[in-house]
Amino acid sequence: MKFFVESFGCQMNSADTEEMGRHLAARGFAATADRDAADWVLVNTCTVRQHAEQKALSYLGRLRDWKDAKPGRRLVVAGCAAERLQDSLRRRFPHVDLVVGAISIGRFPELADGLLPAGEFDARGEAADAWSPENDYTAYTRGFPVGHVTIMRGCNYSCAYCIVPRVRGREIYRPAESVLAEVGQKAAAGCSEILLLGQTVNSYRPADGPIQDFADLLRAVDKVPGVRRLRFMSPHPFYVNERFAAAVAESPNVCPHMHLPVQSGSTPVLRRMRRNYSRADFLARAALLRRFVPGIALTTDIIVGFPGETDDDFKDTLSLIDEADLDGAYSFKYSPRPGTDAAEGPDDVPREKKEERLAVLLESLERRAQEKTARLIGTAQEVLVESAGVENGVWTADGRTRRFWKVRLSSKTPLKIGDTVNVKIQEAPARVLKGEAHAA
Ligand code: 5AD
Ligand code: SF4
Repeated sequence: MKFFVESFGCQMNSADTEEMGRHLAARGFAATADRDAADWVLVNTCTVRQHAEQKALSYLGRLRDWKDAKPGRRLVVAGCAAERLQDSLRRRFPHVDLVVGAISIGRFPELADGLLPAGEFDARGEAADAWSPENDYTAYTRGFPVGHVTIMRGCNYSCAYCIVPRVRGREIYRPAESVLAEVGQKAAAGCSEILLLGQTVNSYRPADGPIQDFADLLRAVDKVPGVRRLRFMSPHPFYVNERFAAAVAESPNVCPHMHLPVQSGSTPVLRRMRRNYSRADFLARAALLRRFVPGIALTTDIIVGFPGETDDDFKDTLSLIDEADLDGAYSFKYSPRPGTDAAEGPDDVPREKKEERLAVLLESLERRAQEKTARLIGTAQEVLVESAGVENGVWTADGRTRRFWKVRLSSKTPLKIGDTVNVKIQEAPARVLKGEAHAA
């Protein structure tokens, strides 16, 4: 039996997809990249914005033909949109066999077993506890050479715009020994970069044991043999304090880059979003990080057009990016999500206004990116190769620097995914740096 996956949304979702794939692998399934060869298709959905949900649903619609083409095929829908829509998904898409909402991912093995022909499959060597250190966390992986490792689930915040707490539930912390076991297995399998994942990853505080919080965990993961690069996503600004910054600074493998979502640069908007920090707090925390980790790259998430956002609020967002000297941002137009607090009130920033602000923001980000990358011309950067090939007879590869800049490089010798190379940056068109690998 073969399974094929399609994973929408963020890295948390991607890690959940891996988890489901691992359970299928334990039942003797093999992964395939060819959907037509698959007996099972697993779709992991996102609902963070309406557009994301729509994309996942139209993909499901297109799977009707796949399902009908062969008897016995199974279609499983998981993730955040599955959690939000539950049974209405099945009514809308009768070809769906199983709906596993994001909160119920722990029940996936049992639910999947219900779909398997009786007596034909046994879970081989799989512990009942999904987070047992005994499990094989490399049975099905995606994203190599970056190993995605979930350290917590859920979110205890209730940001006014965000549906995640509703579809992923309250925070649950994974035991540290289980995290360390997965990191060790993935590093041994060649993942020289580890990405620790959680909705507010730095609020991690397991119940007992020597590892008490995220700072302790980071220091421990940093020491796992084979880990050469360590990142985490996404920290919440509220938990950025000296203890956290010191752990980042004193862990040599932790990359000098952090994705720290701010959402807005206006204190009144932040208050209405219920972000639990002001503009001044965010700036102070960015400064704290820079004091502990000189030269750290900071990227962020921004929402434009949150209800009530004025031109002045938006200007505050633009100026915050400059003041905090941010290196980049993912920016989104506000999208009302049913059941969130903000969706109770009017979505009162007109669409054209949202689009105009987004365009201004993107232009400003582009300008900043160009200034920042131009300064890297002539420097040497360590790049982790994430894909490699040959172009016009030349070895080429794509990868990232420790500060998370994308690099496209050429090389006189063949390269493979997972290699770390030194690259002399020669050009910096747009956002991608270009350069040539040279011997270490
Ligand atoms: N509308 C627009 N963007 C949103 N995000 C979360 N919820 C919404 C929403 N309702 C953005 C935030 C978050 C990122 C993952 O998605 O910026 O950090
Ligand atoms: Fe999408 Fe958010 Fe769920 Fe990730 S956590 S899959 S971004 S809704």
